Amino acid sequence: MRRVETDFVVVGSGIAGLMTALYLRNAGQVTILTKAQQEESNSFRAQGGIAAAIGKDDSPSLHREDTLRTGVELCDWVSVDLMVEMAPKTIEQLVEWGTRFDQENGHYALGREGSHSVSRILHVGGDATGAGITSSLLRQARQSEQIEIETHTMVIDLLVSSQGICQGVVTVAAAQPPTLYLARKGVVLATGGCGQLYLYTTNDLVVTGDGFAIAKRAGAKLSDMEFIQFHPTALAVDQNPMFLISEAVRGEGAILRNSTGEAFMSQYHEWKDLAPRDIVSRAIYHEMSQGRKVYLDATILGTRFADRFPKIYRGCLQHGIDPTKDWIPVTPAAHFIMGGIQTDLDGQTTIPRLFACGEVARTGVHGANRLASNSLLEGAVFAQRVAEKLSTLEPQSFDPVMKVTYPDMCIDKQREAEWKRRLRQMMWEHAGIIRTSSGLIEGIERLMELRREVPESYFEVQNMLLTAQIIMESALWRQESRGGHYRFDYPETIPEWSTKHYEI
Ligand code: SIN
Repeated sequence: MRRVETDFVVVGSGIAGLMTALYLRNAGQVTILTKAQQEESNSFRAQGGIAAAIGKDDSPSLHREDTLRTGVELCDWVSVDLMVEMAPKTIEQLVEWGTRFDQENGHYALGREGSHSVSRILHVGGDATGAGITSSLLRQARQSEQIEIETHTMVIDLLVSSQGICQGVVTVAAAQPPTLYLARKGVVLATGGCGQLYLYTTNDLVVTGDGFAIAKRAGAKLSDMEFIQFHPTALAVDQNPMFLISEAVRGEGAILRNSTGEAFMSQYHEWKDLAPRDIVSRAIYHEMSQGRKVYLDATILGTRFADRFPKIYRGCLQHGIDPTKDWIPVTPAAHFIMGGIQTDLDGQTTIPRLFACGEVARTGVHGANRLASNSLLEGAVFAQRVAEKLSTLEPQSFDPVMKVTYPDMCIDKQREAEWKRRLRQMMWEHAGIIRTSSGLIEGIERLMELRREVPESYFEVQNMLLTAQIIMESALWRQESRGGHYRFDYPETIPEWSTKHYEI
């Protein structure tokens, strides 16, 4: 088996992985492994922006208050403090590494999104924030001799020594024999979330929950996995991934209407169209279950729409919708997971020398529901913490008895696609926007049946199945409703549950 030695292995090429690598480049050789192309990530797709308290009517304490309220009493206060305090400096770092945030009258232009009490969202190219940020980070990484990026390389498992210390990863890549990447100092999982577990999602095709499954198989602890955020406004056109209509469009004054023309959000929340995402998604779900379609009416923006949201404008036109005149048909879609691999404030997981950063990590900043545009921020802030900690570690020697076996790689693409489709349908039906005990129990049974059918060599499907099982079991355990977890049979938010976390 091929062996490659390096100082740091970083898995994933979204904002969390790239920033970790850039912060680490002066501390040793960094190898970034990514299973598709460099640009293929949810970070690259991000539209709305990145939150930071830099406006004159804003402060980290207001940002903190909005984050905690949206997280419905489940956030970790210390992590939230750290993130909101570090946010302005992190923006400066992004600018230093080449990001050009949009400006207005000589100041950064700040957008508004759901559950933010002020405008605090920085953006790039109107609605191409993720592409703007990740392209400049990739440019930096490519220029660095200390950073190597291996594309189309899938990590299938972690290498853990007999003493329980993470020493590297095992990968498969199309033209290569399986390879061991041994990390002298440590491994960082920055693999993103798991939106592709759901039939309807805004997430990139590569976002299949790999990091959660890899960490779980190695014995790391995960928690809060029942909390899934459904974005209220994906374009209601059946495609995978679904095309996102950024919340920033509502921030500029667009409103939701049902098919009778009613602007219904005032019935559901005092913040109306800018209520927290879980509330808006459930409101839309409710309207739809009464047989009404839901639309986003952005006609108030007139011709300004195309300038402020060029990518969304083009995307709508491709489907024959002109947002300056037509209402945009929308539907909720799986967007983000609040739980993940448990970490401390330095991104350290429960396995020594294994770190996690970005959506795959559970740092505690999101609680039961993430505040809009706090996800790029979380990845960027904690990348620095992870890198600072990793840089202090002494190189390790490798366990000589480490043995790796792997199943034959023989993938029938058609069968793989069919298993994925069945799983995504199951998750949508049983662990979607509204959950019940009986639905989850049936979902787990159906999932087990599917697990028995899928051979071990289908790594990606295996990762999806394991992550799905963890989500369903966590959702069954939490007998209350809170943020991104709504139980029809336990509709109340129960104060005693605010201190409980399902650890698995
Ligand atoms: C959006 O642009 O609506 C998505 C931003 C986010 O997920 O925070």
